[in-house]
Amino acid sequence: MSITDSILYQQINSSPLQAITHPLLTEKAIQLSIKRDDLLHPEIAGNKWRKLKYNLLQAEAQQKTHLLSFGGAFSNHIHALAAACHHFKFQATGIIRGEAHYAANPTLSQAQQWGMTLQFVNRQTYRLKEQTEYLLKLQLQYPEAYLIPEGGSNAFAVPGVEEIIIELADQHPTAIDHIFTATGSGGTLAGLISGAAKYSPTTQVHGIAVLKNALYLQHNVKQWAKSEHEVSWHLHTENHEGGYGKISKPLADFCHQFSNETQIPIEPIYTGKMFYALWQLIEQDYFARETNIVALHTGGLQGLAGLKLLKKF
Ligand SMILES: Cc1ncc(COP(=O)(O)O)c(C=O)c1O
Repeated sequence: MSITDSILYQQINSSPLQAITHPLLTEKAIQLSIKRDDLLHPEIAGNKWRKLKYNLLQAEAQQKTHLLSFGGAFSNHIHALAAACHHFKFQATGIIRGEAHYAANPTLSQAQQWGMTLQFVNRQTYRLKEQTEYLLKLQLQYPEAYLIPEGGSNAFAVPGVEEIIIELADQHPTAIDHIFTATGSGGTLAGLISGAAKYSPTTQVHGIAVLKNALYLQHNVKQWAKSEHEVSWHLHTENHEGGYGKISKPLADFCHQFSNETQIPIEPIYTGKMFYALWQLIEQDYFARETNIVALHTGGLQGLAGLKLLKKF
């Protein structure tokens, strides 16, 4: 059965848009809605499905039976890829940065239960993951494999993310002034920029980088979002709270309070950093009164189990 004929493919539809009320938003007269991509699917949630969708279809079109990708030991992308391979019947391999004992953590044990084979590599080898020579070697080792970059970000991630903007055109009654996403590898930001250029050119697109020294990501984003010059977009690089995976006390406190006040679950690695940055911008009057903002909930909630185990959150 082809991917598009499967029940799962047909079940994953549009995600809801939820309007938020909060004292800060009332005080500053800001309208904020959250695009709940975390509710797209319980296992292939958030931006993961958006980025994987056209990669899966491309793999199928190339008659590949095996998907291979890269990630850290708690990677949301690896987790979602394993689930997608399980549901759509691809063989799955994850090249994981770190030591083999990570195989027992909640993210990777679930990935293995879904049938993914893990190959652990040290940091030095992991750094080769974008180099042609290394990728050719992997392709020789796994000739049936369709290779997906870390984070699922490539040109095929873009059309899936663009669909968020298409859905918003129906869901949001007025023009959206700003849309925000957390940014790790840049594919989601690129897709939003590309979607805004096509369907909502007055919307300004913002990425909150969750890692340090993230300016280099602009190059990839420009490459993937071919029409980036047609919309206003900005990568915020000062809201990483110390770097990837770093959770400052104020950030942790903010995440708990945000979830208590809005009843929307977030995690501190991606969505928490995005909302924390957005809240600071609102407090600093970055936006005029009566501004309409949409924040994309990119999921990542599977990572909470690992963070709790490490007592990091
Ligand atoms: C939960 C979550 N949000 C946001 C992102 C960032 O997306 P991107 O890597 O496309 O910048 C990721 C990583 O893919 C993620 O796992």
